[in-house]
Amino acid sequence: MKHVIALNLKTYEESTGEKGIALCRIAEDVSKSTGVPVIVAPQTVFLAQAVSKLSIPVFAQHVDTVKQGANTGCTTWEAVKSIGCKGSLINHSEHRLPFFQIFEAVEKAKQMGLQSLVCTTNAMESKAVSVSSPSLIAVEPPELIGSGISVSTAKPEIVSNTVKAVESVSRVPVLCGAGITTAIDVKKSIELGASGVLLASAFTKAKNPKEKLEELASGVP
Ligand code: G3P
Repeated sequence: MKHVIALNLKTYEESTGEKGIALCRIAEDVSKSTGVPVIVAPQTVFLAQAVSKLSIPVFAQHVDTVKQGANTGCTTWEAVKSIGCKGSLINHSEHRLPFFQIFEAVEKAKQMGLQSLVCTTNAMESKAVSVSSPSLIAVEPPELIGSGISVSTAKPEIVSNTVKAVESVSRVPVLCGAGITTAIDVKKSIELGASGVLLASAFTKAKNPKEKLEELASGVP
């Protein structure tokens, strides 16, 4: 698998409305110009608009594990598939799920032919989740999220231990995230065995998001 950059646009002001769509377009442009696969996860209400304008994979930030029917306010896997999303983040630190629901969500994604990117916080959790064979795992120590201090520098053992733990039971590619800000952070993550990175604020809140993403992509070998 090629190393990937996954961009979680969260609910920042900078990723809301037309600004969010502009970030999605930048993600696509940089993916095309650098050859680095980029996944983008905009806010739910902008998913359809993003999918209609992009050819790179668009993921939801969260999907509810409910059946189609009377579930007011929920977003179903069927709905995200119907508009052309390729997958979803599952269990992000800011949207935790009980363990059984992570497994349910991964299973549902498989049934729907969609990809699942499960977020975890450490090696043990990642190993347990990998048994369900999600498409990707992203390990992110919550205390470094949004800090600008990269997991690959501050806690490199979390990345390498997670890669080893997951490799011992499955072939699920492991991304890492939290505080990834520079090309060096990306390069180190990959040297530690990660198959790519999941990041948010460094791109979304950058003064020049295009330059920032080009810089981050230059860290991919
Ligand atoms: O999903 C990505 C994330 O939680 C990391 O956020 O802002 O530290 O890149 P950030």
